[in-house]
Amino acid sequence: PAYPPEPWRVKMVEPLRVTTRAEREELLREAGWNPCLLRSEDVYVDLFTDSGTNAMSDRQWSALMRGDEAYAGARSFYVFEEAVRTFYGYEHVIPVHQGRGGENILSRCLIRPGTHVPGNMYFPSTRAHQELNGAAFHDVIVDAAHDPASEHPFKGDVDLGKLRAVIAGCGADAIPYVSLAATVNMAGGQPISVANLTETCALAHAHGIPVFLDTARAVENAWLVKQREPGWAGRTVAEILLALCAPTDGAVMSAKKDSLANIGGWLALRDPALAEQARGLVLLYEGLHTYGGMAGRDMEAIAAGIAESVAEDHIRARVAQVEYLGARLGDAGVPIVRPAGGHCVCIDAAAGLPHVPRTEFPGQTLACAVYLEAGVRGVERGAVSAGRDPATGENRWPALELLRLAIPRRVYTRAHIDLVADSVIAVHRTRERITRGLTFAYEPPHLRFFQARFKPA
Ligand code: F0G
Repeated sequence: PAYPPEPWRVKMVEPLRVTTRAEREELLREAGWNPCLLRSEDVYVDLFTDSGTNAMSDRQWSALMRGDEAYAGARSFYVFEEAVRTFYGYEHVIPVHQGRGGENILSRCLIRPGTHVPGNMYFPSTRAHQELNGAAFHDVIVDAAHDPASEHPFKGDVDLGKLRAVIAGCGADAIPYVSLAATVNMAGGQPISVANLTETCALAHAHGIPVFLDTARAVENAWLVKQREPGWAGRTVAEILLALCAPTDGAVMSAKKDSLANIGGWLALRDPALAEQARGLVLLYEGLHTYGGMAGRDMEAIAAGIAESVAEDHIRARVAQVEYLGARLGDAGVPIVRPAGGHCVCIDAAAGLPHVPRTEFPGQTLACAVYLEAGVRGVERGAVSAGRDPATGENRWPALELLRLAIPRRVYTRAHIDLVADSVIAVHRTRERITRGLTFAYEPPHLRFFQARFKPA
């Protein structure tokens, strides 16, 4: 694919340590076969997440110095509020320490036990908060999202028929809101089209149901709309971002993704009464409503990062780097989720390791193999991440059993990406050597993928 040169140069470096295979075998055993429990200094290229791992610009670092650390009414809050209002278009901006802080507040405000939340696939922390507050989650994403080989350009789209069926089956009164994401992380960073998002909002609103958008990667979604959705090629990413947010009733944001910051987030709402209720909960769980768990300097870094995130040369190079990795793996015959997403390339571990049964977690097994090969860390996005059904206690078996390689923004060079591609291809070519998977040695009750320990099956 076209691989535009990076629109930045390196000003500061962070040395990396290279380990031997023998060292990695020992380190992984100590980490309970869960790369999440490795120390970062034992990882060479860290594609565990694109969350909070971004390189800030010189402008963001200098913005830190402007941080107003006043407890109440800090100037930095108003800078931050103005940036969110300008680029996302929501009136009421409530700061939180990171995305899940906003998910907690929104879920607590709106969800009552016995209610139902439809969404375009799920994200673990988002669904966990919905379920903790007593809702049942319903996946209403298009079928193509569950098919790694489908080339559907908008695998984040809602199947309106599925949404109508949930509304008819549960009753609009029992649906506190529709939970949408742009892009859809668990589907492999797949975008939702402006047309589908707008139609979904119209359907929900016709039944009096509000819609909240997870905007963690909405700028990447906007870029993919510009590339793929008829009618949008001539618009700026900033315009498309506003168009994605416009039909929704509010958003939850992890600023650790698109916004090029290392920490922070926000909840934004249009309804003033709901915003007042949410501010009340922020005081209890996050901090005052003018800092929400962030330092003043964090809010400055986010405000500067938001403006940089919609710059066309930035977002073009960012997504092109992801596409480059996808093309290298795809060309070598590694089964990946098609098309490559906005922030990650996902390897179809069920297809890649067909001889490892689902009950032995092929995604987790592949994550370990890729680490052992060259010190590259990804994260399982399959049955381990899906967890157990809170009602039955049974394991969930999602259609997608993936190893996600998420690329931090502005951090790695093309040589790093080539090393990742070479090592994943090497694992793929010798895959029949992986004869068994993993079973749990310790399984935590919530978001188990973070702290679980495994043993060879
Ligand atoms: N929503 C989405 C779509 C996310 O990807 C994440 C985090 C969150 C919400 C929660 O935000 O981490 O700031 O509390 N995703 C990270 C990941 C952890 O690796 O995909 P947070």
